[in-house]
Amino acid sequence: MSIKIAVLKETVADERRVALDPSVVSRLKKMGAEILLETGAGDPAYFTNDSYGDAHLVENAAAALKEADILLRVQPPSEAEIAQLKSGSLLISHIYAHQNQALVKALQANNITCMAMELIPRITRAQAMDSLSSQATVAGYKAVLMAASLVPRFFPMLTTAAGTIRPSKVVVIGAGVAGLQAIATARRLGAQVEAYDIRPAAREQVESLGAKMIDTGVNAEGEGGYARELTDEEKQQQADVLAQHLAKADAVISTAAIPGRPAPKIISTAMVDGMKPGAVIVDLAAETGGNCELTEAGKTIHYKSKILHGPLNIASEAPFHASEMYAKNLLNLLTLMIEEGELKIDFDDDVIKGCLLTHEGKITHPPTATLIEGEA
Ligand code: NAI
Repeated sequence: MSIKIAVLKETVADERRVALDPSVVSRLKKMGAEILLETGAGDPAYFTNDSYGDAHLVENAAAALKEADILLRVQPPSEAEIAQLKSGSLLISHIYAHQNQALVKALQANNITCMAMELIPRITRAQAMDSLSSQATVAGYKAVLMAASLVPRFFPMLTTAAGTIRPSKVVVIGAGVAGLQAIATARRLGAQVEAYDIRPAAREQVESLGAKMIDTGVNAEGEGGYARELTDEEKQQQADVLAQHLAKADAVISTAAIPGRPAPKIISTAMVDGMKPGAVIVDLAAETGGNCELTEAGKTIHYKSKILHGPLNIASEAPFHASEMYAKNLLNLLTLMIEEGELKIDFDDDVIKGCLLTHEGKITHPPTATLIEGEA
């Protein structure tokens, strides 16, 4: 008997990604899995039912859920879906437990083993399973295209009979995965790019992409390679130097985040006031509060001749490749667990341990357990 993996239509509003693309389906089939695909699940990402030749199409989600040994999702499932899964089955999805505590309780109550994709550890071995990175890559790329289409200028230098156009100046704030992809994309479009990050380790990567690092003299490298929170003095120093660079920018892409916390406010109203007319800010941190004080999540606003864009779920706007990359992340994770059509989970594996949220009726991710059940 082969293991049954269900893939359903995403139900969260405006979500256009799908958990598996056709190429990964055939790879999973070779590993002995049977894919139950809800009819039309790939449509929003432009994967037709026919292209999933190796999947078994099912008309409705309920039928797939009842039979599934594994449910794969992009966005967190509903509690109603969890209730329809078999006890002891495996869910792999983004969960965002701190925002979805009732869902975690439902997983616990229904005895679902859940691996949360956003908890995949940031270790070298897990890079190919890291959906935060794969989706941030999509976001960084798209953010630049958004900026390029909102800005009333060209990005590249152009020499034409109608005159010479100077290249746009782009500032990228936060040179993590999304920021580095934004730098590379803006460079490909011919812009002059400056970047800023509080982690000094980012400098080498920024420079290798042909951008200039803005030096504010503040070093805020924290534990595990992530940024720590800055002191008030450091913030002021950072702000003063940044303001000078932003005043010259035509477009700003901001991507700065501190894991598990609201996004740091880096671009103040005064800094926006100092920017050029027609300058654009694409605030990729809009989802967690924004890096700019004036950002409104999900909106494009015009403020004193500046354009402030706060996109949400930006990876869903390139659903074909975002799905393909996410599906590859899932395949690499599933490869650790499927042997000859059977599910064999090594709960001592660091990657599995890191992303395991619930198992056998328990919350197995300590910070989430503390959040939901309190201190032991
Ligand atoms: P993120 O999305 O948490 O943050 C984005 C960037 O914003 C980071 O580079 C951070 O330093 C920066 N930032 C935070 N506060 C800031 C502030 N006040 N001002 C300016 N910049 C600020 O980070 P992401 O992109 O998820 O990853 C960051 C780093 O983690 C990577 O560059 C890499 O070194 C490491 N990483 C390792 C992985 C692995 O080994 N599997 C996978 C992914 C990331």
